Amino acid sequence: MLTLEKNIDIFVKKYLITPENIWQPTDFLPNPQSDNFIEEVEEIQELSKDMDDDFWVVMVGDTITEEALPTYESWLLDVEGISQMNNENSDNGWAKWIRLWTGEENRHGDVLNKYLYLSGRINMREVEITTQHLIADGMDIGTGRDPYKNFVYTSFQELATYISHNNVAKIARKKGHKRLAKMTKIIAGDEMRHHQAYTEFVKQIFQHDPSEMMLSFQYMMKHKIIMPAMHIRHSKGQKGELFSQFSSVAQRAGIYTGFDYVDIIKKLNSIWDIDKISGLTSEAEKARDYLMKLPERLYRITERIEVPDTKYVFKWMKPLKL
Ligand SMILES: [Fe+2]
Ligand SMILES: [Fe+2]
Repeated sequence: MLTLEKNIDIFVKKYLITPENIWQPTDFLPNPQSDNFIEEVEEIQELSKDMDDDFWVVMVGDTITEEALPTYESWLLDVEGISQMNNENSDNGWAKWIRLWTGEENRHGDVLNKYLYLSGRINMREVEITTQHLIADGMDIGTGRDPYKNFVYTSFQELATYISHNNVAKIARKKGHKRLAKMTKIIAGDEMRHHQAYTEFVKQIFQHDPSEMMLSFQYMMKHKIIMPAMHIRHSKGQKGELFSQFSSVAQRAGIYTGFDYVDIIKKLNSIWDIDKISGLTSEAEKARDYLMKLPERLYRITERIEVPDTKYVFKWMKPLKL
C-alpha cells in the first residue's frame, strides 16, 4: 500500500474526474427553474407507467445500494494502509483517493433518487426507510481490513454495478425512456472507470506480491462476493429479509443475473492474466488453478438454478398513505 500510494496523484488524474468537468445529476433531470418543468415531469410520469413493477423494484434496489454510500466510505477508510491521520496529522494518499471516489459515487444515488421521485411510480417514504435501515445495518463483505481482499471486492463490485446500470439503460432505451437510458448509461460509465482503477491497483499488487495477491483473490472467490445491499429490508422488517426476493427480481428482469457473476470472474481472470502469473509458492499455484477452473464450474451450477416466478409484494411499490 505504501508503494502504490506514491502514485496516488497519477491514479487520481487517470481515473477520476474533477467536479467541474464531470456530469452532475441536474444534467439529466428536468430543470425546475424552467417553464417546461411540469411538462417534462409529466412526460417522465407517462413513460414510467409503461415499465413493469419488476423493473422499478430493481431501480429502487440500485438506488438504495448507491445511497448506502456512507457504509462504503467508512468501510474503506478503515482498510489497512488507508489512513486519515498519518504522522504529520494529515491524511494519506489513499484517504484522498477514497474521498474523491466517494464524491463521484455520491452523484449516483442523488440522480437515481430524484428520478424515482419524479417517476410517480414509487412510494418514496418506504424507500427512504429502507435506505436508512441499510445504512444503519452496515455490511460485512468478508474482507476484514485486508487491502488485497478489499481491492478484489471493489474490482468485482464496480463491474457488477456497471452491468446492472447498463442493463437498466438498455431496457429503458427499448421502451423509449431516453432520459432514463442516458442517465443510467452515464452512471455505468463511471462504474467502468472505477472498475478499471481498482483492477489496476490489483494488477500492480500482483507485480509486487504475486502469491499473497493470488491467495486473496482465491479467498474472495471461495467466500463469494456478497452484495452491498445484503441487509436490505422493508419498514418494520427483519434485517436482510428482502435480499433474496430482490435478487430474484433482478435476475428475472435480466438486470443482474448469476451468469453476470460468472462473467465478472472470467473477466477478472483475464484482466489480471491469472494464467500467466509466475513465481508463485506452491499454495498460490494451487489457488491459480482453482481460479482458472472456477468460471466453468460456476457456469454449470448457474445453469441448473431456476429463478422463481413468484409475485413478491414490495412496500416500495404500494401507494403512499400519509
Ligand atoms: Fe455507483
Ligand atoms: Fe463506482
